[in-house]
Amino acid sequence: MTIRKLVPPVTLLVAAILSFMPLVHPERTIEVRDHHLDHAVLMVLGAIAGLAAYRGGDDRESPGWIWPTVLCPLLAMLLMAPSLYELVERAPWLHALDHVLFVALAFLTAYGGQRYVRGVGWASALFLETMAVVAAFGFGVAPVPTSAAAAPAAHGTTIVATGTGDAERGGHIFTQDCAACHGSRGQGGMGPSLLNESSRKDFTAAQAWIKKPMPPMPALYPDVLNAKDVADVAAFVETLK
Ligand code: HEC
Repeated sequence: MTIRKLVPPVTLLVAAILSFMPLVHPERTIEVRDHHLDHAVLMVLGAIAGLAAYRGGDDRESPGWIWPTVLCPLLAMLLMAPSLYELVERAPWLHALDHVLFVALAFLTAYGGQRYVRGVGWASALFLETMAVVAAFGFGVAPVPTSAAAAPAAHGTTIVATGTGDAERGGHIFTQDCAACHGSRGQGGMGPSLLNESSRKDFTAAQAWIKKPMPPMPALYPDVLNAKDVADVAAFVETLK
């Protein structure tokens, strides 16, 4: 057995293990950007497997393969849509499935490209990969448009990675749900001081923390606070000095 034959099963196995990480290691405060980069890594593995699975002479080229080559990157793009985040964030197994789909789509993009015309697989895989990396840095599809302020951007192509929240509204939520532990001005009490929290957690990380805090801080999301409440209160916390 040549090494080349081992490449697809080995890379796919690694990709599968990585895909199921959310089940064993639920992410808490991971940045959305890093997360998109994780997806990019999964896609590289899928694409390598796809390129290696193509056996040249034995697999004849055929025009029909243009379809998976073009449609798979498009589907991958849709899977990165911000509206899916909430859903995927709540169920680790859905998240793992999302990962498996990324690997499969990258495999098909690369393999399909090769079957269409040899060499095209490299180009289509590169295209998909570029898109994933670019998404990580907030161009095209990126994180949660959390408030009306972000909405105007939604019909364009860029939604900034940080999003926004209504800090004033967040202040009221803070008084109601957080002040008992963190103090009326965030100065601390039974819970730690949140003054200068922005230097420890940025807006994205603060939202992630509030959604899934470590005990003894209670998780108020999604029962008490909805996603907008979380964004607003996080925006308020970011203003504490
Ligand atoms: C029952 C008390 C309690 C309530 C209510 C509570 N927290 Fe906390 N919070 C804590 C404790 C305790 C910690 C420290 C947990 C740790 O570090 O493991 C913490 C940590 C935090 C941190 C991370 C601080 C850091 O180390 O960077 C943030 C941000 C935060 N809370 C915000 C909030 C917000 C916003 C609310 C209201 C929606 C809230 N908390 C409600 C007790 C509370």
